[in-house]
Amino acid sequence: MDDWRHARLTALVYDFGIEHERLGRIGGRLVWGADLSRFYRDIHGLRTRVNGCRVLDVACGGGVAFRGLRKEGSHRYVALDLSPVMLRRAQANAERHGLRDIGFVQASVTALPYQEGGFDLCLSYFGLHCFADPQAALAEMARILRPGGRLQGTAVVRGSGLRQDAVISLFQRRGIFGTVGSAENLTCWLAAAGLREISVDRDGAVAYFSARR
Ligand SMILES: C[S@@+](CC[C@H](N)C(=O)[O-])C[C@H]1O[C@@H](n2cnc3c(N)ncnc32)[C@H](O)[C@@H]1O
Repeated sequence: MDDWRHARLTALVYDFGIEHERLGRIGGRLVWGADLSRFYRDIHGLRTRVNGCRVLDVACGGGVAFRGLRKEGSHRYVALDLSPVMLRRAQANAERHGLRDIGFVQASVTALPYQEGGFDLCLSYFGLHCFADPQAALAEMARILRPGGRLQGTAVVRGSGLRQDAVISLFQRRGIFGTVGSAENLTCWLAAAGLREISVDRDGAVAYFSARR
């Protein structure tokens, strides 16, 4: 499997596409049969939701979620990713948005370098399907949330159509994707991580999920 830690071209191409909203929407429609408007709305909505929260963004990629943050917010925001290329892009992105108080951490989701219960909100946009063991990743995300803390994100899932499933298999062979489950698998994984108030909505091959610890 191609390791995102070294996957420079994949990181650059993906991040360029998702950062440019129009391109991201076209890609979402063509590749995943999904309207990514909800994704962009979600991250724009972070503005109010992160107020006063300790937030972990895993995996942050190039920082697409930063557009939802206020310059002088009352949040504490940590952006974590395995890829140094992505983290450099995320840092440049934060500077462009005038966001000075984001912490950047290079680490794997399988061993988050935080104590249990240290965060109020965990964001995980389009990361889960890239992880070799999404169940272990969700268990780690649940662990670092305080009781009552919230997890929200998106993931590519199987089961929306032959074409999308074929693209998923292709990306797995190229090492870009890890283990990809269905929306039903995702619901089970969230429950197995000890999370409750689980919601999983699928649009094409994109699942929007949220849950509470
Ligand atoms: C498709 S990108 C999504 C990034 C960003 N959240 C977004 O929506 O644009 C997937 C990210 O997962 C990161 N990643 C892959 N495996 C990881 C791991 N084991 N731990 C942390 N990050 C990982 C990659 O480096 C990449 O930045």
